Amino acid sequence: MHQQPLGASDLKVTRIAYGCMPLGGGWDDAPLSTQTRKQALVSIRAALDAGINFFDHADIYCRGKSEEVFSGIWQAVPHLRQRILLQSKCGICFPGDPNPDSPQRFDFSYEHIVSSVEGSLKRLQTDYLDVLLLHRPDPLVEPEEVARAFDELHQAGKVRWFGVSNHTAAQLELLRHFVRQPIVANQVAFNVLHTHMLDEGIIFNQDNPKLTRNEGTIEYCRLHNITLQAWGPLAWGLLSGREPEDPSEKITKAAAVVAKVARQKGVPAEALLIAWVLRHPATVQAIIGTTRPERIAAACQGDALALSREDWYHLFLAGRGEALP
Ligand SMILES: NC(=O)c1ccc[n+]([C@@H]2O[C@H](COP(=O)([O-])OP(=O)(O)OC[C@H]3O[C@@H](n4cnc5c(N)ncnc54)[C@H](OP(=O)(O)O)[C@@H]3O)[C@@H](O)[C@H]2O)c1
Repeated sequence: MHQQPLGASDLKVTRIAYGCMPLGGGWDDAPLSTQTRKQALVSIRAALDAGINFFDHADIYCRGKSEEVFSGIWQAVPHLRQRILLQSKCGICFPGDPNPDSPQRFDFSYEHIVSSVEGSLKRLQTDYLDVLLLHRPDPLVEPEEVARAFDELHQAGKVRWFGVSNHTAAQLELLRHFVRQPIVANQVAFNVLHTHMLDEGIIFNQDNPKLTRNEGTIEYCRLHNITLQAWGPLAWGLLSGREPEDPSEKITKAAAVVAKVARQKGVPAEALLIAWVLRHPATVQAIIGTTRPERIAAACQGDALALSREDWYHLFLAGRGEALP
């Protein structure tokens, strides 16, 4: 699989990464079952077999169980830690934590960032994270505190590189003004059905524009060498066989276009969806979240599939469900 640098870091990451969110089996407090442990290893092995070297976590995924179950791979595949790259995220707190009446919230305080990393390292059974992302923008962010937390984690050898997720250009600019560690990635939802960041540049100055307010985030990341990591790159299966809970004509039509183009090219629909995400010149990294080995392998075929401008626009138009201005 092709590799590329992650932003300004010295990491060489595969263009397709594995998203570990579902590996823990459920977002509850039930202990990990033997079946969940086995299934997680099957998914991780499928990702390794496909050539993936980058694994995406968050402290909250399945309430910590996704990180915990992942650590089973160290025994299953000896000497693996040095060969793969681990990313985790912090900054989201569940309601009811730590007190029964605590609200849902984001928390970029020094204390939360540092203690979240300690928890991730313990659950993942590793001494360091290759990358730490701030998960969702905290309106109460004090960038100086983030800077202090990042510096200390870096100096202690606990985190090598830092980034963010779901951040706009302006939020990135604020952080980068204070944070001394380079920001190397911004993980955002991006797929054929979810094109708000692209639409913003296209609907500019049109009558009745949709207000997406991404503030030139793609352009900002390109200018500042911040890799865009695409979460949801398979459009959650909605264009490759999954029945939508709330079917719409737009999704049905888009799925038909995806199926037709995939047939013409002789590739699985999953490969086409990933190739579409990777075709964007912002050196995007696709974070796939399917647990099924056959879908992991199908999606990874997208790495070798080069799409023409026309191919890309066919799918862009299908996902938008409306013509360009
Ligand atoms: N930064 C953030 O805020 C954020 C938010 C969400 C996710 N993420 C990260 O991004 C990763 C991927 O995100 P994602 O899982 O939302 O996106 P995704 O890769 O687009 O979708 C994967 C999901 O779609 C299902 N799926 C795919 N093809 C299907 C089909 N043909 N039929 C039925 N179901 C199908 C998968 O189920 P199966 O397992 O059954 O295939 C899985 O639940 C996550 O694991 C996580 O690491 C980050």
